[in-house]
Amino acid sequence: MRVIAIANQKGGCGKTTTALNLSACLSSKGQKVLLVDMDPQSHATLALNIQGPVLQKTLFDVLMNGGNPSPLVLDDVVIPCEGFDLAPANIHLSLFEQHLSMMPGRESKLKDALEKLQKIYDFILIDCPPSLGLLTFNALVASNEVFIPVEMGFFALHGTAKLLEIMGLIQQKTGHDLGMKAIAVMVDKRTRLSREILQNMRQNFRGSLFDTMIHFNVRLKEAVSYGKTILEYDSRSSGCRDYSLLADEILQERNRLIHIRPFLEPSLEDRSFQRESRFIFHAPEAKSVRIAGTFNNWAPTDDYLMNRQNDGVWVKIINLPPGEHQYKFFVDESKWVEDTDNPEICTSNPFGSKNSIRVVN
Ligand SMILES: Nc1ncnc2c1ncn2[C@@H]1O[C@H](COP(=O)(O)OP(=O)(O)OP(=O)(O)O)[C@@H](O)[C@H]1O
Ligand SMILES: [Mg+2]
Repeated sequence: MRVIAIANQKGGCGKTTTALNLSACLSSKGQKVLLVDMDPQSHATLALNIQGPVLQKTLFDVLMNGGNPSPLVLDDVVIPCEGFDLAPANIHLSLFEQHLSMMPGRESKLKDALEKLQKIYDFILIDCPPSLGLLTFNALVASNEVFIPVEMGFFALHGTAKLLEIMGLIQQKTGHDLGMKAIAVMVDKRTRLSREILQNMRQNFRGSLFDTMIHFNVRLKEAVSYGKTILEYDSRSSGCRDYSLLADEILQERNRLIHIRPFLEPSLEDRSFQRESRFIFHAPEAKSVRIAGTFNNWAPTDDYLMNRQNDGVWVKIINLPPGEHQYKFFVDESKWVEDTDNPEICTSNPFGSKNSIRVVN
């Protein structure tokens, strides 16, 4: 059985769409699938048009009733949907963190619930909320794999480093292996931004990025409003084809557990080997300049804002471990620019844009 958390704390990046449609496509290929709605927004439950009295008992009641003499188990709340089962949620799930904040074993409530399942599944997919709180933590502890949908927008990779850090922590604490793979979603190859982010993802996630990507398709948006998965709503749409191909790729995977350590922040001992690296960029016209690269998961966050000197030169000092680092400047929140003063560039870029290289000895 593969237990897969679909997680990314960034809101609206396609977690629920992926969880729903992957559940439908995997089940259409003969797999027994349980979709767990771990989000108090309950978008997966709503998108399947599940409402009314069936929601009197939900995942929340299963996770909460540890001390009950005849506890409710997950099988009691599971609802059959379009070829797969759903463990539904509602807004009560938002009370979970509040109620369990001090309780021992609070991180493994979902894992315990999954272990007690009577029904056998090939896949359990967990739709996570857009946060890194106790609900997502429970999902990660219960899983052996994490799929991270990354949409093609600014700051697409912002925050994935934090998620990977938490996964590393869980791996260290519990000793259980947690594989991860990123999925490029809402791809529109006609836009330069999509192409740039895809290129960054390929460099960043290397072997742990699905070959299949999910293109932008308005039918996926429409399906939700009809309370259907894309398979039911429009099986001939490009959205359905993409999710079906993704399901095939998942089923064919052999080497699916990718160790996440290479993407983590360096440990404290590693930090002592870091060298101060000074980056300089001439841009008197620019209003803001950030730097991003392989060292920060290509996320131009506020920590990587460069400082403007009087002469229009932007400077940033970053501690980097020895090795080769690729980077670019992110100017005025809109343009990715290579370091024109640095002749060392990476030419392996298929989209005609180049990354600069800094080697730290
Ligand atoms: N490939 C796609 N093409 C077009 N629209 C999409 C695609 N994937 C998702 N969407 C739309 O983008 C919006 C956000 O998607 P979704 O709800 O799956 O994100 P999410 O990560 O689950 O959000 P949240 O963080 O709030 O849980 C929805 O309106 C959805 O229909
Ligand atoms: Mg969602």
